Amino acid sequence: MTTLVSQFRTNGQAFARNIAAYDQLRRDLSEVRGLAIAGGGAKALATHSSRGKLTARERIHRLLDPGTPFMEIGQLAGHALYADAVPSGAIVTGIGRVRGRLCMIMANDATVKGGTYYPITIKKQVRAQAIARENALPCIYLVDSGGAFLPMQEDIFPDELHFGRIFRNIAEMSAMKLPQIAAVMGSCTAGGAYIPAMCDETVIVKGTGTIFLGGPQLVQAATGELIDAESLGGADLHTRLSGVADHFANDDLQALKMVRDIIARSRVISALSPPSTPLDPHYDPCELAGFVNANPKEPIVASEILARLLDASYFVPYRERFGKTLLCGTGEIGGFPVGVLINDGVLYSESAQKAANFIELCSQTGVPLVFLHNIAGFMVGREYEAGGIAKNGAKMVNAVSNSRVPKFSLMIGGSYGAGNFAMCGRAFGPRLMGMWPNARTSVMGGEQAATVLATVRQDQLRKTGVAMSPEEVETFKDPIRKNYADHSGAVYSASRLWVDSVVDPTDTRGWLSLGLAMAAGSPKEETRFGVFRM
Ligand code: COA
Repeated sequence: MTTLVSQFRTNGQAFARNIAAYDQLRRDLSEVRGLAIAGGGAKALATHSSRGKLTARERIHRLLDPGTPFMEIGQLAGHALYADAVPSGAIVTGIGRVRGRLCMIMANDATVKGGTYYPITIKKQVRAQAIARENALPCIYLVDSGGAFLPMQEDIFPDELHFGRIFRNIAEMSAMKLPQIAAVMGSCTAGGAYIPAMCDETVIVKGTGTIFLGGPQLVQAATGELIDAESLGGADLHTRLSGVADHFANDDLQALKMVRDIIARSRVISALSPPSTPLDPHYDPCELAGFVNANPKEPIVASEILARLLDASYFVPYRERFGKTLLCGTGEIGGFPVGVLINDGVLYSESAQKAANFIELCSQTGVPLVFLHNIAGFMVGREYEAGGIAKNGAKMVNAVSNSRVPKFSLMIGGSYGAGNFAMCGRAFGPRLMGMWPNARTSVMGGEQAATVLATVRQDQLRKTGVAMSPEEVETFKDPIRKNYADHSGAVYSASRLWVDSVVDPTDTRGWLSLGLAMAAGSPKEETRFGVFRM
């Protein structure tokens, strides 16, 4: 075993500067988080409470085993995405422990436009269900929603991953014996009515919970029948006459207790204990931010990061002397074994081949993979093309794609172009995908994109005998740089659900440990690789 040696004390000034810059990032982020957590604002909140209802986050808090953490998925979804504010995408989702089992919890926030489904709400719930399916987690739906956000129906109704997918997922996960439990704690209208109707077991709250395909307004318009919501689809009707719900609760708290009891009866096993005793790193994870240079062009020293993420700071490197711009090796996080890949420079043929081999080895032994991105991309130039960098990079992408061990992906710095793919970007199915607040992702860096486009433009103009002055080139490049800068950051990425979470460096071990515990309870899958181009 190798213990990593920290260098930082020799560079104390840079460390302090970096921490100060990071604290500013943290303050900015906490403002954005505050908006997400606040829900639909004071007026909507007051109306909601006046009906005797708990908020979505209060409901989750009361559902969870006391004192246990809740890992939110997509907390910043919807931030500054539409003309309307849609805090947390109008639904709170995440992983938490209920009667000892890790569950996926999805709670509509009725203070945000009646808890209706915007496109991002659907994307978020489908993502939460995908995590549940992959990790064999029971699903708990705390429903309080007016159904489709009607002005945007074409972006939520007809397509493959639109509203219908939520219901199909419920049916398929039920068939996989993953409990699907609903508590109806507000309105469940039209399409929304299918959530409780499709779940295995459903609780409904007296006075506030309603389930109907058409609400009172629609019924009056369609048939002329005048009826109030409770008589049309309230708790009494559905537990006594229709059988659409199974359990009658007097209030939110009783409904949540009933859900806890249902989960306890479900006999689902999830979240295995770690095989080894978790050990704190020898070096303090609170120091991590000090190794993220305030100037993003400066490198992040991979060994310093590993020393603060791995249990006891132990790391067993794989081919330490070969392909040195990518560190691969094994260690433990929270007592779970992991194979780690972390960039320490651009990717070359050797580093990509080493990674492909390392992924094969971890797949053979069933060791989960953790990818820590800080990657500008693959090396370019004639020498490298002649050396087959395209086929060697493809080997790594191939191995990442087909490996069936749980994969976790975290951008700790830049994550650009094919480097993002090779390091298990979103398209490659990591069980969880996160981003440190300083991280950025785009097809290439803003400066490079501006230069490429300026060169193309200059080539076009040259054919017509026109040359751009240096000032004109800069004027051309500026908006491109700005566009990339505005659209590649952590908040922008999280608001669109390109990542599940923005993770503070200090919280990274906890985030990974919970992810590894969740994945440890899921069925093992066999890896079969395709053709590697040699
Ligand atoms: N699409 C778009 N906006 C909707 C909506 C929908 N389906 N349902 C409600 N809203 C909006 C309201 O216009 C209101 O917006 P505002 O705050 O800008 O005025 C906001 O959501 C809250 O609605 P409100 O009726 O004031 O709140 P409530 O808590 O008293 O009632 C509902 C919430 C969802 C029960 C009620 O609005 C309702 O029945 N909506 C219609 C539901 C429906 O028929 N859906 C069909 C989906 S296919």
